[in-house]
Amino acid sequence: MKEQDKFQEKIEQDEKIEPKDWMPDRYRNQLIRMMSQHAHSEIVGMLPEGNWITRAPSLRRKMGLLAKVQDEAGHGMYIYSNTETLGISRQEMIDQLLKGEAKYSNIFNYPTLSWADIGMIGWLVDGAAMVNQTMLVKTSYGPYSRAMIRICKEENFHRKQGHEIVATLANGIPEQQEMVQDALNRWWWPTLMMFGPPDSNSPHTNELMQWKVKRKSNDELRQDFIDRVIPEAHQMGLKIPDPDLIFNEETGHWEIGEIDWDEFWQVIKGNGPMNHERLETRRKAHESGRWVREAAEAYAHKQKLQQQKAS
Ligand code: 3HC
Repeated sequence: MKEQDKFQEKIEQDEKIEPKDWMPDRYRNQLIRMMSQHAHSEIVGMLPEGNWITRAPSLRRKMGLLAKVQDEAGHGMYIYSNTETLGISRQEMIDQLLKGEAKYSNIFNYPTLSWADIGMIGWLVDGAAMVNQTMLVKTSYGPYSRAMIRICKEENFHRKQGHEIVATLANGIPEQQEMVQDALNRWWWPTLMMFGPPDSNSPHTNELMQWKVKRKSNDELRQDFIDRVIPEAHQMGLKIPDPDLIFNEETGHWEIGEIDWDEFWQVIKGNGPMNHERLETRRKAHESGRWVREAAEAYAHKQKLQQQKAS
């Protein structure tokens, strides 16, 4: 049986494609594109939250946020390692990010203006990432699917700690209620954009679904998220910033107004409120970590010479 037919048969039988299996170059490159962007999102995603670690309102909140940011670093490393199984080096991926050639999630190009934003990132953004990543547990590429199982467990903690922050503020004094509603007003629409452009304008979805890399489309995932999160917002007394929002009794789904896709494309082209700062911060962090990488390489080289001498 030809390699292509064997590959297609595995996909049809829901068998995982493993690194050593034959796969079409296009499948490999699609996964490298999607997974490296996912890893970049985890790493850049630490920046908006890191901005509030020193200003968390209590030791308990600081510890929760610290744990979450450390988790995101681990998710990034984990997904970079996964992506390396496809034949690209971590250095290449990091160079692509630092040169501004790689994408990461639109959502991390917005500022975190108040503590309520940290609650929104946990509850809304990680909640959206959860919907997406729960779907990716069933992706056809073995290493990515297995990584998602572990990452989803941690993402659930992120979502819960964010939900608690938002609920606490929503039940707080009027100033806190205003602060959290303002944060929802700013994060609601960019979070809906996280799921990607409408299916009608998504160049990759059809192909990714044929290969069972994606098991649900962008619009399906967005709808799952909306149906889940709007009742939670209402339960906390929050108002969704969408005058056209309506619940369709017949379908049992919430229907939203128009998403500003011009904003989405502008942000992912690099023209969002914080794109420049995010990349500059990553470049500085990478530069200041150079001596650690060089010391580790020198040590590894010395170890290798000693082993060669000993053998
Ligand atoms: N942010 C930035 N770029 C996006 C985007 C987003 N939210 N959604 C789509 N795009 C880009 C795509 O990368 C593609 O551009 P490219 O061809 O240059 O790569 C273009 O817009 C067209 O979009 P498509 O819908 O056709 O692209 P995909 O089929 O790849 O779907 C996706 C986009 C839904 C993000 C999909 O790639 C995906 O599921 N990726 C894996 C999950 C992921 O990356 N999640 C990041 C969320 S943040 C996070 O997880 C951190 C957590 O701790 C909060």
